[in-house]
Amino acid sequence: SWNMHSFIEKQIEEIRKKVGSKKVVCAISGGVDSTVTAVLIHKAIGDALTCIFVDNGLLRAGEREKVEQMLRNNFHINLKVVDASERFLRKLRKVRDPEQKRKIIGREFIKIFEEEARKIEGVKFLAQGTLYPDVIESVSFKGPSATIKSHHNVGGLLKRMRLKLIEPLRELFKDEVRQLGRELGIPDEILQRHPFPGPGLAIRCIGEVTRERLEILREADKIVLEEIKKSGWYNKVWQSFAVLLPIKTVGVMGDERTYEHVIAIRVVHSIDGMTADWVRLPYELLERLSNRIINEVKGVNRVVYDITSKPPGTIEWE
Ligand code: XMP
Repeated sequence: SWNMHSFIEKQIEEIRKKVGSKKVVCAISGGVDSTVTAVLIHKAIGDALTCIFVDNGLLRAGEREKVEQMLRNNFHINLKVVDASERFLRKLRKVRDPEQKRKIIGREFIKIFEEEARKIEGVKFLAQGTLYPDVIESVSFKGPSATIKSHHNVGGLLKRMRLKLIEPLRELFKDEVRQLGRELGIPDEILQRHPFPGPGLAIRCIGEVTRERLEILREADKIVLEEIKKSGWYNKVWQSFAVLLPIKTVGVMGDERTYEHVIAIRVVHSIDGMTADWVRLPYELLERLSNRIINEVKGVNRVVYDITSKPPGTIEWE
């Protein structure tokens, strides 16, 4: 649209003026906001922008590859991928408390991001995909968010590295960010993505977070997404995902007794994440999800569907 077009022109001019000959660093989560921010800033200053994507080992299946494909191959953006899964998993060993998980992941993320940002010579700016609702802080998470978005988290980093913020989306609402993204040539597949929490699969892996448990969760989650997309529900719901429970239950397979993990499926409608309603999925779809997860994911013998709205439940289980 003409409006978005002139918004882009104006932003590009402002970003160029502000940055001058200095360098900009941007944390990429794979979500809509950070992707649009990166593509817009790259349009303004090209290789003076470095994006950093931290693979914390808590991502959905294929996430890292998707980010690499998009930013590096499609947009030719300078992207540094840090494989930090070992570090995160070590820090998370034996941790079961949800708040503890969030704190550890948030802290580790900032540490790793800072280490990488310090390697960029002449870096003077940190780009963030802050939206208008973030500015007025209408969105509240359970405790400190693990994303770079959490303002208190990023404060120390800015100070220590003497960085200034660039927030080109801070006047926009989510739907405007999507329009902007479309204008910038970002595929709908990315612009229509469901929100994904900073602490990632760690807060959907109830109980201890181990490589093995994450693997089970990731496989089940992949099936949930596949089937939700195939059936046309993806764009009708706010979020859809799998949760791995910290219990085992008894089942039968052939003549054998099994004793395996339980997967819960969570699918919700929401406008802004503040309230939510569980989605009345067709029984046939639920049946397909259950059958596929039990047949294809080794170590799972039971699937349950979460029929709790928010309030009283939260969307995430931790
Ligand atoms: P809850 O579980 O509080 O979630 O009903 C509301 C929305 O926020 C997302 N969420 C998070 N996002 N860091 C994030 O970036 C977090 O720590 C976090 N916790 C929850 C959740 O996915 C839902 O969309």
